Amino acid sequence: MVRRLMRDEAGLVVREDSVGNIYGTWPGSGGGGGTWGGGGGGDGGSAGDGQRLGAVLTGSHCDAIPLAGAYDGTLGVVGAIEALAALRRAGFRPLRPLAVVMFTSEEPTRFGLSCSGSRAMAGALDLKVLTALRDANGTGYLEAARGAGYGAASAEAMLAGARVEEGAVDYFLELHIEQGPELEREGLDVGVVTAIAAPAALEVAFRGPGGHAGALLMPGRHDAGLAGAELALSVERRVLSTGSPDTVGTTGRFEVSPGAVNSVPRAATLGIDIRDTDGARRDAVVAAVLDDARELAARRGVGVDARVANQDPPAACADDVQAAVQASADALGYSSKRMVSRAYHDALFMARVAPTGMVFVPCREGWSHRPDESASEGAIGKGVRVLALAMAELAGGKFGAATTGDEASKDEL
Ligand code: HGY
Ligand code: MN
Ligand code: MN
Repeated sequence: MVRRLMRDEAGLVVREDSVGNIYGTWPGSGGGGGTWGGGGGGDGGSAGDGQRLGAVLTGSHCDAIPLAGAYDGTLGVVGAIEALAALRRAGFRPLRPLAVVMFTSEEPTRFGLSCSGSRAMAGALDLKVLTALRDANGTGYLEAARGAGYGAASAEAMLAGARVEEGAVDYFLELHIEQGPELEREGLDVGVVTAIAAPAALEVAFRGPGGHAGALLMPGRHDAGLAGAELALSVERRVLSTGSPDTVGTTGRFEVSPGAVNSVPRAATLGIDIRDTDGARRDAVVAAVLDDARELAARRGVGVDARVANQDPPAACADDVQAAVQASADALGYSSKRMVSRAYHDALFMARVAPTGMVFVPCREGWSHRPDESASEGAIGKGVRVLALAMAELAGGKFGAATTGDEASKDEL
């Protein structure tokens, strides 16, 4: 559906890379153009003086977590396609290529690793980590990619096929719902994102002997489920102990086995998410939680395996991209504020490839990662217009007679 929208709604040249990122490109008028993205790099435009111009890239994801809403990610794919279609309808002629990408697997749902598509593009997906990934059925990432019509002869070739070539992207912008309550609470139209918080995910497994829930007396029990429960509470205690509201943590996944009411749990597996806008403060909490896991396992006489699935640094949004978003919101007469993203996004990794920014729109009650997540049509329309105008600003080019930045440009959208 996304490929068709890219082609039919916005007249883009569609390409897919080896991990399943899907790109739609609108070649720049400054020469070059053609398809954009992935290991083959982009045929960027040229400024006419031979200097190659990279693309202004936008995009987000369409994959989701269980019981998710319908706006997280999809807004930044479908809204971005509409933004490029609106620019075309307005007669805009970009100097730099404009492109939209639907990243594969932003959520950690299947393989337990977030943002695998944008990590691969940014060269931030380690080959050993990639080849160790397995889904719930034991299927590896390369096998899954091949099954979906992507992949390559090897995992190395697959990574090379997704890596963005040096200079292929000059700017990256992502449109997304805020996934928090600030914009709606303050009655604002747009968030100009200044930074993206640092996410970390831990996988912890406790193992005990299990036993009969009636006949095994308490002193002889080594209850793996209680070890997990104690660690989940320790995550909360360690997070709150920093004293900063920017430190957050939860145990989003907690499974006990065998899962019989009359059997002492012999295994407990926990998926723990810990974040902070301050990377070092987040790292201190992660280290303390791992220490707690080892200490309580020894005290309770259970085994423990604990590993860090990802521990990524925060990302700063580029000043010039923030300025383009701010100028577009102002030109359109929309109220806005600078703000941090507490959720992570593919922009977290695209910031390693090119100057990056984000456009936030308010969502109802700030709800997200739940089925009743939603954003109003009006809010979405404003976000799409700000994205379109900011991309036009960064791409350079003309709206009919008016060049970008002229009064005429915003009225065209
Ligand atoms: O978890 C996140 O921050 C993102 O919504 N996947
Ligand atoms: Mn999400
Ligand atoms: Mn998202």
